[in-house]
Amino acid sequence: MTSEELRRKYISFFESKGHVNIFGKSLLPENDPTVLFTTAGMHPLVPYIIGEEHPSGTRLTNSQKCIRTGDIDVVGDSSHLTFFEMLGNWSLGDYFKEDAIKFSYEFLTGTDYLGISPDLLSVTVFAGEEGIPRDDESAQLWESLGIPKERIHFLPRSDNWWGPAGETGPCGPDTEMFIDTGKNACSTDCRPGCHCGKYIEIWNDVFMQYNKQKDGTFVKLERTCVDTGMGLERTVAMLQGKKSVYETEIFLPLIASIEKLSGKKFGEDESIDTSLRIVCDHSRAATFILGDERGIPPSNVGAGYVLRRLIRRAVRHGRKLGIDGVFLSEPAKIVIDQFVSVYPELLENKEFILNEIQAEERKFLETLKKGELEFEKMLPNLLKNPQKIMSGRLAFKLYDTYGFPIELTEELARENALSVNREEFDEAFKKHQELSRAGGDQVFKGGLADHSEKTTAYHTATHLLQKALSIVLGDHISQKGSNITSERMRFDFTHPQPMTKEEIGEVEQIVNQQIAADISVTIEIMPLDEAKKAGAVALFADKYEQKVKVYSIGSFSKEVCGGPHVERTGNMGLFKIKKEQSSSAGVRRIRAILENK
Ligand code: ALA
Repeated sequence: MTSEELRRKYISFFESKGHVNIFGKSLLPENDPTVLFTTAGMHPLVPYIIGEEHPSGTRLTNSQKCIRTGDIDVVGDSSHLTFFEMLGNWSLGDYFKEDAIKFSYEFLTGTDYLGISPDLLSVTVFAGEEGIPRDDESAQLWESLGIPKERIHFLPRSDNWWGPAGETGPCGPDTEMFIDTGKNACSTDCRPGCHCGKYIEIWNDVFMQYNKQKDGTFVKLERTCVDTGMGLERTVAMLQGKKSVYETEIFLPLIASIEKLSGKKFGEDESIDTSLRIVCDHSRAATFILGDERGIPPSNVGAGYVLRRLIRRAVRHGRKLGIDGVFLSEPAKIVIDQFVSVYPELLENKEFILNEIQAEERKFLETLKKGELEFEKMLPNLLKNPQKIMSGRLAFKLYDTYGFPIELTEELARENALSVNREEFDEAFKKHQELSRAGGDQVFKGGLADHSEKTTAYHTATHLLQKALSIVLGDHISQKGSNITSERMRFDFTHPQPMTKEEIGEVEQIVNQQIAADISVTIEIMPLDEAKKAGAVALFADKYEQKVKVYSIGSFSKEVCGGPHVERTGNMGLFKIKKEQSSSAGVRRIRAILENK
């Protein structure tokens, strides 16, 4: 089965069970300062899992583009991917454990679907802990479907509990499904969850029951939900009997192109294989970040910095393979061709992807030349150090003077049997950041799961601001993005010049008038076309979504939006613009707060 077939079968199976395909969302989360990227299929659905109504109903499915950056440093082995697709199905207060497990079993074993022999399946369920009972219900359900007791394992929170990447948000016990690869067990303790490679996890059904708060406490969700996730690449590799995702049709064309460029062969030497995998994985991830509907260029902060690291690490491993000069647009073109039918945004952004990748590569090749030369100059002295440690101060000098990334200094050091004093580097780096950047883009607490009163008021304030700006500046203004925490809001919009003091004052006044008038906020659910006809602003509306939510603030503002919003504007506090500045060419950025709230 190809990845294309698996994606199609998964979605159509769940459609046949009453689920609506809501298609995947952007890789770069809107309004979520807790994470840099979408890390799981459930991520864009957090507001709905904790209680918002979803316009497409209570049974949803899709394939979601995901990036997990925690794994960047281990990418290069045969199983970790930076970018991957997650297939998922959700119940928002609809079915719970029984149907979730039955659906999973039917899709895994049904001859029309994956046709996996039930004899190869084993599962894990939550073992329970103080205050939260053992999940006997799931275990019984698996048993009733024919999984024998000895292949049902009760495991603790570290294995069978799931919550999103930020610290807060919906979470609960899960049940995970594993395939026995037939390899010998690594020990008598070997069981699903062991990482020796005998058991491969292919699916996770999470039973969302709690919302973890900032203070660490768990609040029961208003209604229980199901969130499931199946990694597309890993499952395809397993179904094709391949040892690794890199041996599937998803990666073979990429590997072939890098083999051709480098003259090296995959499968003959482990260090060459590692570099080949890194180039393939990173160029694929970079292509998806640049080609996203909310794509960003490489930069020195946040998601842009991750992108920069990915491109730069790919370049360095390309050079290790003997590729000279600019080459990453080759794998990028392959990725675009491969995925254009599923993710058409890649074609829409093709020029941006190729231009940015090439520009970053050129810049980095210069940096590399200079940095490596400097490292080589330092090396004789470094090797004299009996502890074989390079000081963080020197590593920082390479970063500060030549832009040479710490990760690469560490790699060069490792290649020479040295280590870098990372703590010292981090300290110097932090100091430098504090000096050079007032109020940067750190990852804040809060995020999509933060439906606190304050955060909700900021959501509503963005709608008021959007409308007030169009009244004062004209209809050309268009929102480019927003970012909200419980402390402040940021709002980017197109406008060719700085706002005048008077314009800022006028905008504040209009927003505050709407707040003082204590207007009620109402929601309607309708098809996107109708929402547009009704005059709703629909900038971030998903063009593939069948139905959307439209929020109206009296007759003042009408916008397509996922919410949440205040019920009435009266209690929002006093709106104040703290700063109006340039964000990028033709785009202005407003930082604003709500006072006395
Ligand atoms: N959200 C769950 C996961 O990522 C399904 O494993």
